Amino acid sequence: MILVTGASGQLGHAIVERLVDAGRPVVAGTRRPVAGSAQRHIDFDEPVSLDFTGFATVVMVSAGYAEDDVVIARHENVVAAAERDGVEHLIYTSVATDGDHLGFSVAHRWTERRIQGSTLRWTILRNGLYAELFGSLLAPSEGVITAPFGFGAVAVVTRADLAEAAANVASEPDRHINRVYDLVGARAITADQIARVAGLVYQPASLGSHRAALDESGLLPFQPAMLLSIYSSVAHGILSRTTTDLGDLLGRSPSDPELTVIRRMEQPATV
Ligand SMILES: NC(=O)c1ccc[n+]([C@@H]2O[C@H](COP(=O)([O-])OP(=O)(O)OC[C@H]3O[C@@H](n4cnc5c(N)ncnc54)[C@H](OP(=O)(O)O)[C@@H]3O)[C@@H](O)[C@H]2O)c1
Repeated sequence: MILVTGASGQLGHAIVERLVDAGRPVVAGTRRPVAGSAQRHIDFDEPVSLDFTGFATVVMVSAGYAEDDVVIARHENVVAAAERDGVEHLIYTSVATDGDHLGFSVAHRWTERRIQGSTLRWTILRNGLYAELFGSLLAPSEGVITAPFGFGAVAVVTRADLAEAAANVASEPDRHINRVYDLVGARAITADQIARVAGLVYQPASLGSHRAALDESGLLPFQPAMLLSIYSSVAHGILSRTTTDLGDLLGRSPSDPELTVIRRMEQPATV
């Protein structure tokens, strides 16, 4: 039996769907399970909810969007419970290898080390920047995209591809024991390219002016620094490297992310 955490989140939900489609026995772990469904109450902040008895494989979707100490405490709870309850294989969704400079990378790398030093068999899926997230940060205003991405390229990936890759690993975990996969795109794209394809104008902004705007935007205290780290890493080409790992796990070429970026760009902006 496979358990997927964060199952009402966008990535976790898509992983469960892929596993159901593949006919795998799967339970969806979520903080707010629907009564009478195949869902299980799983909240990383509540250790008492972390009963993994009977699950051979757990797909642990990272629970970000908080300060490092909060995320690390959550992830410690999960790994400790998995060790205690006899989980055979833990699959963790981490951040891309070149994401070491991103503001949320410490919690991911801490979690990887904790898992690698555990008694469990494991697979680390180092997910690249979502195409959907890149698109949301390119939302145009009156035909102009203004963002501090410079002219740097980024090897974004669609959530759907990442979900399918995770489901493939969870379906045959023995083929992926103690492996780290760097799941970035097969092609890197720039904000400028996206603007041209969408018939828009791209005006690169400075990091300083954007930081000032974010500071006024009512975000949580840790969020502006995390967002700025994404902009700066992309602008300076840090996230442009491509790999073949995603295609290898999918058994096909990754989807071209351009359309996903453009679709997401046209929806209301969210962080
Ligand atoms: N690669 C990227 O570009 C990128 C971008 C943003 C975030 N991320 C990371 O990838 C993860 C999944 O992305 P996503 O798009 O699916 O995000 P999402 O749609 O916002 O979903 C995040 C899910 O995390 C789960 N979660 C939050 N707090 C939790 C807790 N205390 N215990 C257990 N689960 C908790 C929740 O699942 P339930 O509601 O089911 O409890 C939530 O729905 C994020 O949490 C974040 O760590 C990656």
